[in-house]
Amino acid sequence: MSNSNRQSLHGEWSSRWVFVLAATGAAVGLGNVWKFPYIAGVNGGAAFVLIYLVFVMLIGVPLLMAEIFLGRTGRRNPALTMRELALESGRSKHWKWVGVIGILSGFLILSYYCVIAGWALDYAFKAASGSFQKLSPEHVRNMFNELISNPVELLQWHTIIILVTTMIVARGVQAGLERSIRLMFPAMVILLLVLLGYVLNTGFFDEGLEFLFKPDFSALTSAGVLMALGHAFFTLSLATGSIMMYGAYLPRHASVTVAAVCIAAADTFVALLSSMIIFPIVFANQLEPDQGPGLIFHTLPLAFSNMPHGTLFATLFFVLLVFAALTSAISLLEPSVAYLVEKYHMSRTKAAYVAGMGVWVVGIGTVLSFNHWADLKLFGHNFFELMDYLTANILLPLGGLFIAIFAAWFMKSDAAEKALDAESDRVFKWWRFCSRYLVPLAILLVFASVVGILKI
Ligand code: PHE
Repeated sequence: MSNSNRQSLHGEWSSRWVFVLAATGAAVGLGNVWKFPYIAGVNGGAAFVLIYLVFVMLIGVPLLMAEIFLGRTGRRNPALTMRELALESGRSKHWKWVGVIGILSGFLILSYYCVIAGWALDYAFKAASGSFQKLSPEHVRNMFNELISNPVELLQWHTIIILVTTMIVARGVQAGLERSIRLMFPAMVILLLVLLGYVLNTGFFDEGLEFLFKPDFSALTSAGVLMALGHAFFTLSLATGSIMMYGAYLPRHASVTVAAVCIAAADTFVALLSSMIIFPIVFANQLEPDQGPGLIFHTLPLAFSNMPHGTLFATLFFVLLVFAALTSAISLLEPSVAYLVEKYHMSRTKAAYVAGMGVWVVGIGTVLSFNHWADLKLFGHNFFELMDYLTANILLPLGGLFIAIFAAWFMKSDAAEKALDAESDRVFKWWRFCSRYLVPLAILLVFASVVGILKI
């Protein structure tokens, strides 16, 4: 079948803006509000933030473009898309493994993502029941520790999140997703701005800004640079099949470049906004910026408990965070489901439940890693940390490396140019330069520095 008339088996977005919304929904999630602030905190702040921004612009945007146009041309699940496009350019069918590993990475990420989304859901209920009133840092710490040390409760939230995700994906993405993102994204930004208004009055806003934007490069290690790279992939949903999959539902003549830039900009905006809220609260309450995954659950309840109408705002905020997580979770499940449908001819519903069930089982490992299995470590990481490290820091950058190499070196140049359908020759040339040289070089340099070949 030639490229121009290939159709997706799962439908199409109703317009290119719906695609941008859906992909932004996939990109903006726990990665921006939960993960970015805590890993920036662990890595000393501003220098890490700066490197991360450079990675988003130089690696993230060209790779977003590549994934979108590969998906739009292939119109199948990422494994089949890679295989078909490789064959069309006279290359080996084994390029499909890049897609397979992407799908697997998304599956593994989802397994822990649902557990963390479950924390947010628990906090939404806590907020609604009025628990966030006159809290001290002590209270908040105990509240969080009680939650994560209770596997039954964690499992219950994890189950609800994966069930909802599965149900939405089983129904087909378009209708439900489109409506929820259209409402959710602006609402989320408004609430973040309300929170920003609050922290402006904490008296510690400048200190927060300094932590985030005044780089001290001595605080940065090669492990930190790898984390910044991994997070650029994670937060833009790259190399997990999600963006390639969503690209497969994109109408033919939408601008890939504009879409990629919009997604990256919206995603970065939310990450920076969240951090500008979290760190002033950290400093105002003498909390530690490097306390890890519990960071937002230690800081935000304090802020809400001190502000007028805190219960209302807190409830809204955590509900929206759950929505933001769900729109990402859906995009993480979709490639596995499309794979099962296309490869094994399962019905969409069956495929969604089979994949959802698998994710649920693996997620139990993360549930237990905060309590019974907390001391069970491999390479110094518990189960949750291992899943996170393996996916974000290894599989995603590796997947991104191969995607860039494929699109810029192995795909026939005229096929790539036609697939990107750029607004001008300059855009195509800029994309190809980044994807041919900058992206592979940057990823390889970071890997080399981590394994100790290169000293930075
Ligand atoms: N980008 C999402 C976030 O920041 C997570 C995600 C990763 C979603 C990979 C899809 C694919 O929360």
